[in-house]
Amino acid sequence: MRKKIVAGNWKMNLKLEEGMQLSSEIVEFVKNNHLETLAGKPGVVMFTPFVHLTSVADFTAGIKGVEVGAQNCYTEEKGAFTGEVSAEMIESTGATHVLVGHSERRSFFGETDEVLAKKTEIALKHALTPVFCCGEVLDERNAEKHFEVVKKQLHKGLFWLSEEEFSKVVIAYEPVWAIGTGVTASPAQAQEMHAFIRQIIREKYNDKTADDTTILYGGSCNAKNAAELFANEDVDGGLIGGASLKAEDFCTIIKSF
Ligand code: 13P
Repeated sequence: MRKKIVAGNWKMNLKLEEGMQLSSEIVEFVKNNHLETLAGKPGVVMFTPFVHLTSVADFTAGIKGVEVGAQNCYTEEKGAFTGEVSAEMIESTGATHVLVGHSERRSFFGETDEVLAKKTEIALKHALTPVFCCGEVLDERNAEKHFEVVKKQLHKGLFWLSEEEFSKVVIAYEPVWAIGTGVTASPAQAQEMHAFIRQIIREKYNDKTADDTTILYGGSCNAKNAAELFANEDVDGGLIGGASLKAEDFCTIIKSF
């Protein structure tokens, strides 16, 4: 059975002490509600800025149901790439996940499908779970090209992986028009795209791989709308931006399953 996940993408927010405070409130919540031992409850992943990773990973080490991830990694193993952070370094902090291809990386930092395929490869090599982001911009949706766009992103970024490699990947569908805008995809729009993604995984790989792939929704998902989004058969959780920065909101979202 596929895993459910509620993940927080902190983006470029929170000083270290604020991040530690947020982590400790989330860990308390998971422990107090015994989420780590309850069947059907989601795992929690916190995608922190690089500078928080070691501290948050140390703090959460050994706590079941809470994991830590980076928001990006570089395409190369090591060397003269000033300012970049490698998958191996991320792994060495105790982090277990990495975001690949967030729309902000694609648009502000020019990350292409080819670059993202390399990042996926190096993340898997270092035993990190890539959470591969895909999603269309508003013009593409208005032109009814959203299925085509997402299919192309997945083909170029992921579908060259072997079945075994692909089984280690999580997908996040984040329509760009819903990110940080307060405009959420409707439950029907989210379900429709998630079912489409699962169908193309089925066609490329097989039934088992498709049924076992975790597909998260992201884009203005919050404490109020999470339950109706997560109620859909093919929505396996969320990748939460703004609402992951307040423990109370994020914990309400975790409880939405
Ligand atoms: P918001 O939840 O702030 O819309 O951000 C979503 C996102 O980009 C998560 O990666």
